[in-house]
Amino acid sequence: MKSRRSFIQNSFWGAFAATSGQFWERTTKHFEPAADPEAWPVVIATWDNRKATSAAWEVLKNGGRSLDAVEAGARVPEADPNDTSVGYGGFPDRDGNVTLDACIMDEFGNAGSVTFMQDIIHAVSVARRVMEKTPHVIISGEGARRFAIEEGFPVENLLTDKAREAWEKWKLTSQYKPVINIERHDTIGIVAMDAARRIAGACTTSGMAFKMHGRVGDSPVIGAGLFVDNEVGAAACTGLGELVLKTLGSFLVVEEMRKGKHPQKAAEVAIKRIIDKYPEAIKEAQVGFVAIDKKGRYGAYSIHPGFNYAVYQKGVNLMLEAGSHFS
Ligand code: GLY
Repeated sequence: MKSRRSFIQNSFWGAFAATSGQFWERTTKHFEPAADPEAWPVVIATWDNRKATSAAWEVLKNGGRSLDAVEAGARVPEADPNDTSVGYGGFPDRDGNVTLDACIMDEFGNAGSVTFMQDIIHAVSVARRVMEKTPHVIISGEGARRFAIEEGFPVENLLTDKAREAWEKWKLTSQYKPVINIERHDTIGIVAMDAARRIAGACTTSGMAFKMHGRVGDSPVIGAGLFVDNEVGAAACTGLGELVLKTLGSFLVVEEMRKGKHPQKAAEVAIKRIIDKYPEAIKEAQVGFVAIDKKGRYGAYSIHPGFNYAVYQKGVNLMLEAGSHFS
């Protein structure tokens, strides 16, 4: 006797059922495509950081580790004097000091961070040393600076003429008012999955321009500016750190992916959480998330329009505009 399975396979109706089943799957919103084995390696970064994703891709395309890739990527804007919100050339605090925040996470869940660090360009690499060479997760301020020097990082003046002039101009009014999408360029958060499907991430910034001396934002805080879970995916963000700190945004994105959400939907949940909790503050503040999951899928979302991101996948380096809650 024919089994039901072979009957369906061999009959016209079986063919119809199989085809319509595929059609149905394609049109239901819960349809989850199988992982595309060409979807990794992949790297995604906040803003138009294509030079950073390109540096990361150089590591990834040769079978390198995602941790090395995100560090290489984050170092690009850190060294760029024209990037006024990361590393060298970052706008100073209200007293004229450039102070840096950064963190990094690897595929094992190890994490390292520096906050409120001065005089060292590559904060992300110091964060990596904290992760790999100390029993701690966060080292701050003068302690971070001293640790970096002990590790052989050069001491450098991070305040460029351009940043000093902007600070002098700001002092004429001394108004502390964050600007949405400032120069369409803020913190770099960068997350990647390599050919061996190891996931890592990094985040680095000089923080809000003209902030109070000692202010630390979301970027060096694990779970806020960055979170990685190698079983699930990774997320990072940019924008007004105070809003992200109060909602642990990147952790939330990863937890939503853990429940099965696509990175795009997970990023949307985290943005919606900020909007629901802080309806007044979000009127003049931007936050944007980028995320990848273990299938190599990615997503990005922001509160306001104007947030873009870079993604390098399948040998193509793209700059894309993220969707946003408000239009
Ligand atoms: N997201 C960067 C900061 O608020 O410091």
